[in-house]
Amino acid sequence: MMNIVLIGFMGTGKSSVGRLLAEKLSYAFVDTDALIEERAGLSIPQMFAKFGEKYFRQREKDIIKETCNRTHTVISTGGGVPIFEANRQILQNGRNIIVCLRANIPTILNRTKGRGDRPLLKNDLHKMQALLKQRMPFYNQADFIIDTDELSPLQIVNEIMVYL
Ligand code: S3P
Repeated sequence: MMNIVLIGFMGTGKSSVGRLLAEKLSYAFVDTDALIEERAGLSIPQMFAKFGEKYFRQREKDIIKETCNRTHTVISTGGGVPIFEANRQILQNGRNIIVCLRANIPTILNRTKGRGDRPLLKNDLHKMQALLKQRMPFYNQADFIIDTDELSPLQIVNEIMVYL
């Protein structure tokens, strides 16, 4: 059976939805950010500060490669994963179902506010809008897209299950 890969911008609910979806399907669950942090023994902001974004992106690519070789796994990815061609090629290997979670800016702001764990965001509205616009074409390459603004994590999971 295939893996289910959740992609989308920061604050769209990939981690909480991924965990729930894996439970429902009795699949394994991998959160790429959490795995990177666990292996490095550093939080993502610490990693960005100490080694820079490039270092993080390399770790991220390694984890994507490794987890996409698995089966029966729900993979929640960091928001930057699909912007890199190499990652897209790994994700679009024909054995993954790619689901994009989408949210509008107010929802994203609401879900990420007060949390200092996104070094690329820093709760800067303009930065967020520009990044989202730039990334949209990559997120839109998913097999299907779910608008999450009005939905709870459980409702999002149920929506995903309709497509599987
Ligand atoms: C990033 C998103 C973050 C994390 C890192 C970079 C991005 O993950 O991977 O801070 O480039 O969008 P979430 O999407 O889980 O917040």
